[in-house]
Amino acid sequence: MTSPYEVLGVDPDADEAELLEAYRQRVKETHPDQGGSAEQFQAVKDAYEQLRSGEVPEWESTASPDAREPRQTGRTSRTPTSPPETVTVEYLDYEVLDDHGWSIGDEDLFERARRADLDPEAHGQFSVNPGETLLEAAEDSGFAWPFACRGGACTNCAVAIVDGEMPPPVGHILPEKLIRRGIRLSCLSAPITDDAKVVYNVKHMPDVEEFLLPASRFEKTYSRQRDR
Ligand code: FES
Repeated sequence: MTSPYEVLGVDPDADEAELLEAYRQRVKETHPDQGGSAEQFQAVKDAYEQLRSGEVPEWESTASPDAREPRQTGRTSRTPTSPPETVTVEYLDYEVLDDHGWSIGDEDLFERARRADLDPEAHGQFSVNPGETLLEAAEDSGFAWPFACRGGACTNCAVAIVDGEMPPPVGHILPEKLIRRGIRLSCLSAPITDDAKVVYNVKHMPDVEEFLLPASRFEKTYSRQRDR
């Protein structure tokens, strides 16, 4: 069995920054559009998830005996990634900002949206129930928000948190600089504050687009799975 360190191509002593860097690199290398496969891509995500969570099982490895000991990374506690209570989310489509010359940093962004009487697809509110991700809640409310992998690797589902708190989950591709700017992945988590304001569809924002993997290959993968 291949160890998660071997899957990511990192030394067992790698620190968190090295793990993240290796994960980003391997996600790109194993993406089906880059000559990889859906299986390799999934294995990379699983390996990173294991190392981030500290849940490294026994494995056969060429690493030193010491390195085969279960890794104590200090990353064993998981951040809650879905709301404990029902959360009210006010949303706004990023494309609307372009059309109106608005910016995510505008203090009165959502007041402007309310006054603009936008289409319900572009602006409105819905509830996120306990255990749901933000993306699932949007879909349950009848909206077709963008997504592709549903696994934290492609950034198609990226949203910007304007108000409220939404913890970054483990096993995602976003770099720290985007996390600090409030960018999150709606396929993996949801706000944990009573209410939140979110701009969705930010995948083409500068800096976010850099990490965007094309949705087409995931769609083909899903349709192949459905056809089996
Ligand atoms: S759908 Fe790919 S990261 Fe969320």
